[in-house]
Amino acid sequence: MKAFKTAEITKTIHEIRQSLNNLSFNTIALVPTMGALHEGHLSLIKRAAQDCDGVVVSIFVNPLQFGPEEDFNNYPRDLEEDAKLAADAGAGLIFAPSVAEIYGTSNHTIINVKNIGRVLCGKSRPGHFNGVATVVVKLLNIVKPQNAYFGEKDWQQLIIVRRVVVDLNMDVRIVGMATVRDQDGLAVSSRNRYLSDKQRLAAAALPAALGLARDMIAEGERDKNKIISTAIEVIMNQPGLKLDYLSLCRADDLGEIDIIDGKILIAAAVYAGEARLIDNLVIQV
Ligand code: PAJ
Repeated sequence: MKAFKTAEITKTIHEIRQSLNNLSFNTIALVPTMGALHEGHLSLIKRAAQDCDGVVVSIFVNPLQFGPEEDFNNYPRDLEEDAKLAADAGAGLIFAPSVAEIYGTSNHTIINVKNIGRVLCGKSRPGHFNGVATVVVKLLNIVKPQNAYFGEKDWQQLIIVRRVVVDLNMDVRIVGMATVRDQDGLAVSSRNRYLSDKQRLAAAALPAALGLARDMIAEGERDKNKIISTAIEVIMNQPGLKLDYLSLCRADDLGEIDIIDGKILIAAAVYAGEARLIDNLVIQV
């Protein structure tokens, strides 16, 4: 594995473009992140470094994808530490622009993700996926990578990004990567930092509930409502958790299902105190 001592930190569009020009990589990979890098991010960066000779990690806490009551201001930020972690995983360049650099000069255009952007997390976070799609398209247009890497942990985000680049005829390959989990099954997330020890223990019920739904289906259960209510019970048994949603739908387009068949997404979101945690499993029935 290529490992860099430090990654070059660029903060403006001009700087990142100039560095990419100077380095003249054969193939460029982009790993978009909001920083506070962890094993989940690092798995994307490592894979990107295997696939391409130049890896750019963008670190940008995107205000457009946060609701007014959400954690934009408190979102963890540590650029120096992130640059070290990214370099160890094989990234040569960091693109860490300011909000003004990305949105300052002109702000008339937003991408509107219909249907698949308005279900599941899009229902509880109106406008969230418009913000994600807008910043991802901007980052892709700035860096112009051949490949861009996204985690399946944010399944809805991944399929929206796939859809957006097809709909907008963008010439980039979107690579999806498996969810990295801690030993207790909880998906690694920057927001896990918000959890107290007690909340952290309770949060393990989220992957457990999804796993139970998967096992019920594997054992032949086909009553969607029964599967959902049994899985929800696992979450409700934890007094520290508040359910946002737990759904079964088609994995590829998030369409509603009556019959459990084909590629199915089991997805849920819960609140543990201030932290909103999401997780999913995709199964083939
Ligand atoms: P962020 O939450 O920082 O995540 C960056 C990327 O890492 C996303 O593609 C996400 O799916 C992936 N990721 C996070 N946790 C993971 C885990 N446990 N296993 C595997 N991959 C994981 O997602 C965003 O930022 C933003 O919405 C962004 C795409 C950068 C646009 O602002």
